[in-house]
Amino acid sequence: MANKKILASEITAEKIYYDRRNFLKKIGFASAAIGFSPLLSFANMSQAKKIPHDIKDSLTSFKDVTSYNNFYEFGLQKSSPKAHAHKMKIDPWSVDISGHIETNKTYALEDLVKLASLEERVYRLRCVEGWSMVIPWIGFSLSVLLKKLALTSRAKYIIFETLFRPDEMEGQKSRVLDWPYLEALRIDEAMHPLTLLCFGVYGKVLPNQNGAPVRLIIPWKYGFKSIKSIVKIKFVESMPKTTWALSNPNEYGFYANVNPNVDHPRWTQATERRIGDSILAKRRKTEFLNGYAEEVGYLYSGLDLKKNF
Ligand code: MTE
Repeated sequence: MANKKILASEITAEKIYYDRRNFLKKIGFASAAIGFSPLLSFANMSQAKKIPHDIKDSLTSFKDVTSYNNFYEFGLQKSSPKAHAHKMKIDPWSVDISGHIETNKTYALEDLVKLASLEERVYRLRCVEGWSMVIPWIGFSLSVLLKKLALTSRAKYIIFETLFRPDEMEGQKSRVLDWPYLEALRIDEAMHPLTLLCFGVYGKVLPNQNGAPVRLIIPWKYGFKSIKSIVKIKFVESMPKTTWALSNPNEYGFYANVNPNVDHPRWTQATERRIGDSILAKRRKTEFLNGYAEEVGYLYSGLDLKKNF
């Protein structure tokens, strides 16, 4: 492969980036106190503790992870989120928490991110459309947050809601889905340590197209459960309706567990195409619960997964 020529401007940009990082490291979190944007306190993202994993496949490239996206708020093409998500304002940002908890609570993003030390976890992401990626996400278990909230005994499900701001999110002017985007989990799924409250990817803060500044990653479920740009969390008693299940209940269920044995009504779920593989490469076999059955299988014991798809 031919060597790519490095432009002087690129070297300068990199130098500025590292100088700024060293500077920020020296002043530490004092940055918040002297009026930097709170997002800058995420400069330590690259120091997230790397959690060991057993995924042998190589990582999907940063370029693919950040340019081949689903974020319907910005349009339907895979390239739309990267093209338009910069219009979404993410600073300031806060998450409102309500429902069956002792007292409602609002977390400013900068307080939320400090609840636990950040970890880098490499997870497979399997989209319901039949493709997959392997991605180094950064965050911590959602359970850390849930344990801080006094849930009442009626909190059986948790609902997440994405930002609704049609002026910044053009796709919300179309009625392709019911906005705002809603997703939900059973409380025991939300408490599972694999469920990640995610702030970064590839050692950097999340780019807007990947759901900045805070999203969910649930690695054993189809990608649509991994809701982006979360502004509200609510605890409820009965199983809620979620965006995709509302739009087409025959095709998208509440659970959306990755399951090669239960096909989508219009296509097989037995195999997947890894983004970045050559067009000639064979499709890979999809694993039950996306390869996380040992860890999360017990959550579904006794449940008919054909009915509860
Ligand atoms: N969250 C919101 N708010 N809107 C969306 O359209 N798409 C989902 C999920 N989260 C979506 C969303 C789907 S279908 C997938 S596959 C993943 O985000 C894609 O995440 P990525 O673009 O970071 O790979």
